[in-house]
Order: sequence, then C-alpha cells, then structure tokens
Amino acid sequence: MTRYDMVVIGAGAAGMMCAVEAGRRGRRVLVIEHGAKPGEKIRISGGGRCNFTNLHANEGITQGAGGYLSQNPRFCVSALKRYRPEDFIARIEAHGIAWHEKTLGQLFCDGPASQIVDMFLGEMREAGVDLRLSTTARDIERDADGFRLVAGHAGSGDTAISCAALVVATGGKSIPKMGASAFAYEVARKFGVPVTETRPALVPLTFEPHLLEETKALSGVSVAARVSCGKRHFDEAVLFTHRGLSGPAILQISSYWREGEAITLDMAPGVDVFERLRAARSQSGKQAAQTALGEILPKRLAQAIVTRLGADVPLGSLPDKRLRDIAAAVNAWTVKPVGTEGFRTAEVTLGGVDTTALDGKTMEVKSVPGLHFIGEAVDVTGWLGGYNFQWAWASGVACGAGDATN
Ligand code: FDA
Repeated sequence: MTRYDMVVIGAGAAGMMCAVEAGRRGRRVLVIEHGAKPGEKIRISGGGRCNFTNLHANEGITQGAGGYLSQNPRFCVSALKRYRPEDFIARIEAHGIAWHEKTLGQLFCDGPASQIVDMFLGEMREAGVDLRLSTTARDIERDADGFRLVAGHAGSGDTAISCAALVVATGGKSIPKMGASAFAYEVARKFGVPVTETRPALVPLTFEPHLLEETKALSGVSVAARVSCGKRHFDEAVLFTHRGLSGPAILQISSYWREGEAITLDMAPGVDVFERLRAARSQSGKQAAQTALGEILPKRLAQAIVTRLGADVPLGSLPDKRLRDIAAAVNAWTVKPVGTEGFRTAEVTLGGVDTTALDGKTMEVKSVPGLHFIGEAVDVTGWLGGYNFQWAWASGVACGAGDATN
C-alpha cells in the first residue's frame, strides 16, 4: 500500500492550493481528481478570465460589510485574514500573469483562466506533489496510522492508499455535469460531522407561468437596478430571461432569497419616476407615456410596463394617480419568484460542512484528528465577484500550512 503524509481529494481551487502549501513544507502529498483535467471550474470561471479575487473581501469580514454567508459568520475570518487578496495577486504576478480590475473590486486575468491552472500545476510539480487524474476516492476508513482509502482509476483499477492527513476538497453540488458531487457531505456524515442545509446560490430565479407570460417579451433586456430581499440589497444589472430573472444583482440576492419570499426591484435607482413623468406631462401632454418612460428605461421595458398598466396613451390623459402607478412599477416592482434554476446553473452551493465542527486555523475536524474540509464543501459561501475563489485559496492555505506545522 502506498503511504502519503497527506491525501487531498479534489484538484480544484482549494485542493491544489492546499497541496502546494503542504508540499512546500516537506510533506509527501497526493492529489486525487476524478475528472480528466484539474481545475475545470477555474478554467471556465469569470467568462474564461477567472475573477480570482475581490479587493474588498477583507473589508467585508473585518468591517461587517458582508461578502460571506455562513451559519457561523466569524468562522472564515481567521483564514481570510491570514491569506489576503494581495497575497494571491503577488503569487500570480510572480508567475507573470497579468490582471485588471473590472468593477467593484473584481480582479480578472487579462489572458485565459487556464494560466491559473497551469500556475498550480507548475507549483505542485516543484513542491513534489503527486497528482492522479481520472481517479475517484472511495471507501475511506480510519485506522491507527490515520486513514486508508481505495482510489479507483477507470483504466488501471483500484489502489489502496494510506495517509496521516486526509483533505476533502471536492467542492459543492453546483454544475454536476462538470464533476460536482455530494462526496464531501457523504464523508462528513460517515465521520459524524454535521452538514448544514445545502441549496443553490448565485443562481437565476424563475417565475411561475402567468408571470412568465407577462415578461417573456422582455427576454434579453438588461437594466441597472437595486434588487432587495428583506434587509439586503444589491445595485447591479438585472437580466430578463425566458425563465425569469438573472444578471449579477439577481445572482447576489438569490443567496438571501427563500421560497415564498418576494423581491423588490428599483429599475431606475436614484430617479423619482413620478416627478420625471409629471414634468414631461407639463411640458407636452401629447407625448406618449412609453416615450417619456423610454427616456429612463430600456425602450422594450418601458413599453411592457405601460402596456401592462393599460397606460399606453398620451401623458396628458393620465392623472397623477396613474403616473404614480407607473412610477411604482418602475421604482418598486415587487415579484415573487417561484424557484431557482437549481444546481444545474448555480455558481456555488450555499451551506455545507458545519463550521462548528472545524478548527478555523487548520480546517481540521475537531472530533476526527487528521480529517479536513476546505473550499466550497464548507458552509462558507461568498458573494459574486471573486469572493468564492478567495475563500478557496485562503482555506487551502490554512489547511496546507496549518497541517504541516502541527
Ligand atoms: P471545485 O469545485 O473547484 O473543485 C472540486 C474538485 O473535486 C473538482 O475538480 C471535482 O471534479 C473534484 N471531485 C469531486 N468529487 C470527487 C471525488 N469523489 N473524487 C475525486 N475528485 C472529486 N468564483 C469566483 O470567486 N470567481 C469566479 O469568477 C467564479 N466563476 C464561476 C463560474 C462558474 C460557471 C461556476 C460554476 C463557479 C464559479 N465560481 C467563481 C465559484 C468557484 O468556481 C468555486 O467557488 C470554487 O471553484 C470552489 O473551489 P473548490 O476547490 O472548493 O471546489
């Protein structure tokens, strides 16, 4: 049987980072990946340019400005404080990877995201880390020396491996066709580690058929909006789709929305639509309502709103009350989504391995020495915009460096 100091299951963002850090500290490390290639989510992320971190990730956790969701919001702070966005920037710059800020602190590669995967492959090679692709971890057992696992390879069959430290870095359930699996939660349950409820997050919201009928002509229309659910709001673009709503503001709010709740969209934030329409009416009563509204909103959206309200008429024939109805439909459109597009399209999984069971410095399970969970598998979920990769890097470093110094 082959013996390693550490076996990392999953060659994603968190797993590769952890393996490099442990390998650099002299540990004999093996990474097992059931896909044919490592880091597939890195490769496709950020539209192929990888939004690898967010400059505000640390402000969020230290100043309570948000950024991460968890049943235990303080858990992620220690790891995120020890490995910061500037640490990852320095790492990629040392490899000559150029980057730029797009908006809201979101940093992207100038070139293809595969540069980041290649960087980790090079770092793993230098650190002497072994990588086995197309290999699935099965049958994990605990023994006196740590763990024994059976790794199945499609071509060469099963091999037994033993290790002192086992790191589960298999991610969440989002996008099963890319290899996502519930493996981390199964391992957690097997070892008596609690798992919080998991649900799709950073995901488009869907409408029931009647509402869809009303909005289907808007499919493809995008508008800058403030989207609110409860006390939380996001100011970004909203996109009407043939299933409901998408776009960054909707993906963000989806992490906070629950079935049965309504969301409110202000599709002209900062604009008092009632006053604007009233002023337009006093200038020219002959102007059509949709023309006046089309000065504020995309024309297709303006048309759809006035048609729905039966206000497809000259402004002069609309009393203040009707103008207020139009304004409310723009500044405070309240809708009840019926669901989400699910794990098929969700960028991340909300919830996961309960952080109360983990040591925040090393990601080790307190009740099972040697067993660790990192990355998306853990109940730490970031906002859209590089926060999730920053958690993957930081939890990977905490585990790889922490375990090696124990
Ligand atoms: P990750 O999912 O990356 O890796 C887990 C690995 O484990 C996979 O390679 C998988 O094949 C493997 N695996 C699973 N089960 C296994 C088993 N039983 N045996 C062996 N291997 C197994 N975030 C961000 O910050 N910026 C961005 O731009 C984007 N963009 C983005 C786009 C899209 C389309 C998606 C779906 C997601 C994003 N994200 C993102 C989210 C980000 O990709 C995600 O948070 C991280 O990849 C999580 O890293 P992990 O290493 O935890 O899991």
